Amino acid sequence: MNTSVSAPAGIKGQLSLRQRLFASPETKHLADTIDAGVATIEEGLSQELHFADALADVSARYLFGAGGKRVRPMLTLLTAQLGEGTTPKVITAAQALEITHLASLYHDDVMDEAPLRRGVPSTHEVWGNSVAILTGDLLFSRASTLMTRLGERAMQLQSETFERLCLGQLHETVGPRPDEDPVAHYIQVLADKTGSLISTAARCGIIYSGAPEEYEQPMVEFGDKIGVAFQLADDVLDLSPESTATGKQAGTDLRAGVPTLPTLLLEQQAASDPAAAALLARIRDDAGDDSPEADADLQLAIAELYAHPVTQATRQEARRWASEAVAALAPLPAGAVKQALSAFAEHVVSRTA
Ligand code: IPE
Ligand code: IPE
Ligand code: MG
Ligand code: MG
Repeated sequence: MNTSVSAPAGIKGQLSLRQRLFASPETKHLADTIDAGVATIEEGLSQELHFADALADVSARYLFGAGGKRVRPMLTLLTAQLGEGTTPKVITAAQALEITHLASLYHDDVMDEAPLRRGVPSTHEVWGNSVAILTGDLLFSRASTLMTRLGERAMQLQSETFERLCLGQLHETVGPRPDEDPVAHYIQVLADKTGSLISTAARCGIIYSGAPEEYEQPMVEFGDKIGVAFQLADDVLDLSPESTATGKQAGTDLRAGVPTLPTLLLEQQAASDPAAAALLARIRDDAGDDSPEADADLQLAIAELYAHPVTQATRQEARRWASEAVAALAPLPAGAVKQALSAFAEHVVSRTA
């Protein structure tokens, strides 16, 4: 198998987040601290992500090298500034969580049959499903190894977070029970598959910087809620024509039949609105048809869904979750970190990548 694929220049998404977080005069001084922390985390990751197999050694660094926004490490670094700052433990925890995130992307792209990730062909497109799955497994193991260095509590946080993430992905796949409200089920899926890791990232900054213990719970709540907002924004981005910005193929969720809030709301509306029912039927028919005609029509249907009021309603729902996340920060002391976290929440719902 080909081991000569080097990490291509993919997509660098950190810049806009960084600019947003530290835009105000009060938060400006944090920029250098967070930049230095991200650089240390990245440097450590490129040393850490080596495996005793020529192929895995390449496939495991393939997506890492392609880019990514590094949202979770930034959040850990940011909350750590409420304690003693960027301690070695904070760096290790952030690295372990970014590796966990990376691993989940390898698996997610197999499940969603996504052709593109971080602006490059997905790992399974390059080496096939087995290698992509096993590389994800290797990365999960390496994340656990890193957490082991921080002790039992870190190991427990890692395993509980990973379990929740997997259950979120599983519940998304299985769908709601007949007696369950599909939207409520869906929001719980988002909290589990995406909020879990974001929440633990925010929490680890508190724990491993020695910040006051009473900041931990607000941070968990902030992370869970901002995770839901982040994923709702991602649902909208899946419909965006700007795949050069996201590094992902537009309509991947629709093609794979992955539920998103726009499609769930469209389903609800379809019961009483023939135009909504027709659009939904078109999306389903096109997604199940490999012909070029169906693909061309799906592009048009995606554009219609993107402009539809259900997508606007999804944006509003994302904003609502982001406001609730900010409200969860109330017990934290006023200051630059709290302001930057609020800016983070604003960025999550207005992001274009
Ligand atoms: C992608 O996460 C998976 C979701 C939870 C939507 P990111 O949007 O943080 O992906 P990268 O790390 O920037 O590529
Ligand atoms: C995946 O959600 C979340 C995890 C990887 C746990 P999505 O399937 O929406 O993420 P993208 O859009 O592929 O990044
Ligand atoms: Mg996906
Ligand atoms: Mg998505």
